[in-house]
Amino acid sequence: MSSQYRNKTESIVKKILLLSWLLSFTATCFTHTNTTITILGTGYVGLVTGACLADISPNNTKVICADIDEKKIRHLNNNHIPIYEKDLEEIVTRNISRETLLFTYNIPMAIQQADIVIIAVGTPTNNDGVSDLSYFKSALKTIAQNLTETTKIIVIKSTVPIGTCNKIPAILDRYNVSPKSYKIVFNPEFLREGTAVQDFMNTDRIVIGTKSKKAIECMKMLYQPFIDKQIPFIVTDPTSAEIVKYASNNFLALKLSFINEIANLCDATNGDIATITQAVGLDPRINPHFLQPGPGFGGSCLPKDTLALTTIAKKYKVPLQTIDAAIKANKYQKKLSLKKLKTIMPNIEGKTVAILGLAFKADTDDIRYSPAIPLIKKLVKQKTKIKVYDPAAMENMKHIFPDITYCSTSYDAIKESDALIILTDWQEFKQLDIEKISTLMSEKIIVDMRNILSTKEMNTFLFRYATIGNHQY
Ligand code: UDX
Repeated sequence: MSSQYRNKTESIVKKILLLSWLLSFTATCFTHTNTTITILGTGYVGLVTGACLADISPNNTKVICADIDEKKIRHLNNNHIPIYEKDLEEIVTRNISRETLLFTYNIPMAIQQADIVIIAVGTPTNNDGVSDLSYFKSALKTIAQNLTETTKIIVIKSTVPIGTCNKIPAILDRYNVSPKSYKIVFNPEFLREGTAVQDFMNTDRIVIGTKSKKAIECMKMLYQPFIDKQIPFIVTDPTSAEIVKYASNNFLALKLSFINEIANLCDATNGDIATITQAVGLDPRINPHFLQPGPGFGGSCLPKDTLALTTIAKKYKVPLQTIDAAIKANKYQKKLSLKKLKTIMPNIEGKTVAILGLAFKADTDDIRYSPAIPLIKKLVKQKTKIKVYDPAAMENMKHIFPDITYCSTSYDAIKESDALIILTDWQEFKQLDIEKISTLMSEKIIVDMRNILSTKEMNTFLFRYATIGNHQY
């Protein structure tokens, strides 16, 4: 059989299997025993949510992850996970073989068969703080075109501007959809990249924003394993649920900008940030989490949600001065690694600078709003030679900076460098052999923006070592 013919046959067989599989689950969560959940969007949120829901649900619940990106779906069907996320591959593989999880780019069919449709598409914020809802609206349009007689529950997981859920009926109305054919729920996610599976499985709360009793019952069914474990299940109106999402991320941003500024004060006054965060964090009103100073917060959520919330607040003429300040402080923080380097090495032109950590934090390959980006831009402008290493994010960074040197290990990056800047706290960076580094570097200068190395060891090997918040140990 020629490979072309075999591929075609395999593709037809796959389509028939998909169709028969889907047709066997055409139920609602109320009137039938089988339930089908369709997730639109297989990004970080959609993929993790889909895989985890499949994993916690009984065998008669099926999850279909749908995406317009055919290539991505083909990869997923071949067990190739397009993102770096701990434990995700294992869960996907397990649920594909349990036949509780399926990937498709046939979006109309996936919607038609669903009892619950979860929208998890991206809602990026532009530089003016306005959320781009084009993917979201396009998902709504496709849902509208594929609604059936049985009422579908439309669950919004994408972060949307306050008031969006209340506008959905008017949007769907444009497609002559019966209001009886759907119910709207806003159900924010609180997943951190890198620990998203763990965060889903150990969630501390479930928030449901809806005006529909039927939707509440359906959501209870979806999250039953968590309700059984007494996890708080908070039901509110859609607008309040939308604000919960923004308030959570904005509070986290505030907390980080605050501790970063306290760390900068420690640098100036010889205070010790580690002791301070420990002592302050012991107050249960503050708590010790999310109190580590760093090179400024990045990622797909905190930078965009702070900007979006202040933009929304301006529209309502409500001052959000604390968040404005957190954004401003974060901009300053992202300049700090270079400032610290220049304090030790004022003239960096022609020098070789190694950077460890390109993603916005450890345990992810995501470089969105990463502090590494403005740093590399500035180093390029100032004509330094840049050598970088990251365990997961180098391929992504190559799209932005194709011409810097990508190394295959930390030591390769460090070798013959005049200075080293550490931006993320990957476990392997914490275990670096300092004695070895001291022999590899041309000049022994380290700027450690995560305080992961030992100051005492740095002194032993005569490094000039800059930390954040005067790290002492
Ligand atoms: C965040 C929220 O935590 C999550 O609830 C939401 O759903 C999405 O946004 P994420 O962006 O994945 O998650 O990363 P997170 O772990 O929260 O870190 C955000 C930024 O803060 C990173 O740049 C990280 O390096 C920084 N950070 C975090 C610190 O500098 N110090 C800390 O103590 C914690």
